[in-house]
Amino acid sequence: MADLTTRFASIIECVRSIHGFGYIPLHRPVFEGNERQYLADCIDSNFVSSVGAKVTEFEQQIAAFTGVKHAVATVNGTAALHIALQLAGVSRDDEVITQALTFIATCNAIRYCGAYPVFIDVDRDTLGLSPDALRRFLDQHAEIRHGQVFNKTSGRRLSACVPMHTFGHPCRIEEIVALCAEYNIPVVEDAAEALGSYVGMRHTGGFGRLAILSFNGNKIITTGGGGMILTDDAKLADRAKHLTTTAKIPHPYEFVHDEIGYNYRLPNLNAALGCAQMERLPEMLAVKATVAARYAAICAEAGFPFIQAPLGAVSNYWLNALVLESLAERDAFLDYSNGQGVMTRPIWRLMHRLDMFRDCSHDGLENSLWLEERVVNIPSSVPDGALQSLMP
Ligand SMILES: Cc1ncc(COP(=O)(O)O)c(C=O)c1O
Repeated sequence: MADLTTRFASIIECVRSIHGFGYIPLHRPVFEGNERQYLADCIDSNFVSSVGAKVTEFEQQIAAFTGVKHAVATVNGTAALHIALQLAGVSRDDEVITQALTFIATCNAIRYCGAYPVFIDVDRDTLGLSPDALRRFLDQHAEIRHGQVFNKTSGRRLSACVPMHTFGHPCRIEEIVALCAEYNIPVVEDAAEALGSYVGMRHTGGFGRLAILSFNGNKIITTGGGGMILTDDAKLADRAKHLTTTAKIPHPYEFVHDEIGYNYRLPNLNAALGCAQMERLPEMLAVKATVAARYAAICAEAGFPFIQAPLGAVSNYWLNALVLESLAERDAFLDYSNGQGVMTRPIWRLMHRLDMFRDCSHDGLENSLWLEERVVNIPSSVPDGALQSLMP
């Protein structure tokens, strides 16, 4: 095999052949459709803030695309997760099962509810919560009392499980949902990164009692900032709408609120951006699959494992990732690529190593630690002009 620098250089050459010259960011948005028009429509109509037809239209588009019955727009994905957890029944001093290998928002939202994350290991192939590790944890610690499940070691109630579909690769969500059902633990899918990802024919976010999406500027489609709560349950969807819109009782002119609600509304302007982005989502997914296939080929040639869609799943390839041999090799790659003006980055620092979550319990996290030392992301945007010319 060629020396390491030559192998790194072949990856960077491939990045440049896809994304061009100059500085290459990890992920940037693409506005090649009706974005300007829809934004202008909002400004012309004066509906730029928290009321407007584009919000409902965007919610309907997401529901239709994902096949989940109800979609409630929010100001960002973190807010969506905060409310989804509340609706799943998470309350103060509970524990919520999740993965340490995730973005900080997953754990912040759990703490907003006053609950504590419990970190369970992930699978090396999906990068998502491992059903085997979950089974081991539940067998050892979970105890059902009067229809509720408790962690008999800590004494706290286990009120939800939040698996995350890392980089758009679906985790083994069917097994996780089945396992949680045995213990009557609601599943809230953190599908922030997984719009356009499927297990079988079913869209991610359609498996749990609730799920969330993010439309942050770095996501597969963006509203500038934005999020969505997904659920098949009409009552939960109504509650989600109520809580995220200041818990105001609908009335033509009176302002009466019946509980502590949140101003988590997605402005109409942002929703307008989302509507235009949704019109191009199928093409964006096709282009991203093409980019991922090129990366997979060069990684195979250069001898670096490339994270692929798990068997039976379709991934949106939001962020492409490869696996280096060791921490030293990872850091050498990060230095080399960033030094060449190609943005690459390590996977997140594991949550249990951050000060805020240091005292939370975990199961040893063998795979998470292994991945933390080795996984890097490489530029994954839809290339300029690709929607027109790079179509498969
Ligand atoms: C896994 C995960 N969860 C939650 C979020 C929160 O989304 P937002 O940034 O829209 O608040 C993000 C993305 O940013 C994410 O990647």
